[in-house]
Amino acid sequence: MTDQTIPKVPTLPDAQTVTYVKHWTDKLFSFRVSRPASLRFRSGEFVMIGLMGDNGRPLLRAYSIASPSWDEELEFYSIKVQDGPLTSRLQHLKVGDELILRPKPVGTLVHDAILPGKRLWFFATGTGFAPFASLLRDPQTFEDYDEVIITHTCREVGELAYGANLIASIREDEMLQELIGTENLAKLRYYPTTTREESPTMGRITDLLRSGQVFADLGIEPIEPGADRAMVCGNLAFNVEIKEILEGFGLREGANSDPKEYVVEKAFVD
Ligand code: A2P
Repeated sequence: MTDQTIPKVPTLPDAQTVTYVKHWTDKLFSFRVSRPASLRFRSGEFVMIGLMGDNGRPLLRAYSIASPSWDEELEFYSIKVQDGPLTSRLQHLKVGDELILRPKPVGTLVHDAILPGKRLWFFATGTGFAPFASLLRDPQTFEDYDEVIITHTCREVGELAYGANLIASIREDEMLQELIGTENLAKLRYYPTTTREESPTMGRITDLLRSGQVFADLGIEPIEPGADRAMVCGNLAFNVEIKEILEGFGLREGANSDPKEYVVEKAFVD
């Protein structure tokens, strides 16, 4: 046996191997790692991942799993913060590197935490798209709802690329296509908006909800508690604001132990 044929044995506790890295912008990247055989999770949940710190202790942060629960690997979508303790190092990950992953998934952005409904909204800003990248690839999302609407607000157009690419790949996926349909008014609606660079739809989704523009643009009725369910993942100020808006439409916040009409989780950043 030569060195090259000896399989790489993980040396860290809970170590997984990086299988894919893609840089979307100078501030955003996604990567995939091997999945521990014992790891079961619900689409939309998060786990702690990280690297070994200089002090010999693991440096871990919460990351939403962006891949669906059926996937053989695990995908993550991350910001790069130049002076962030973890992401300043994580952004240099290469295929074959090791990543620490604690296999204890948790989270509230799960189907179990909301009551059955007709229309499901995913509201994301920035890297808050990640849990929805998981849920959008889970057939249950389209089996349980007549319509699924994902909104994604970012500062610049380039920051929409990961999400836009994922939506395109879902529309091309044969199995999901059967569930979603291929007609013009198919089940999956994608509503990207930008706030600091020109794009077809400009503005914060919060403002577009308040003005009613999002409903007009999509040609749909406003949100109401009988039919609409929502999951929210973004920065803190966004989460606070959209909660108020959803409550204004009559939706109540749910939890795993007490499902209601909407759930919220903050996007995890360094
Ligand atoms: P804006 O450019 O107007 O601040 P960030 O990169 O800071 O996490 O923001 C991601 C996106 O979320 C940006 O488009 C930003 O818009 C938007 N955003 C920030 N705060 C809020 C808020 N309170 N309500 C709605 N959108 C917000």
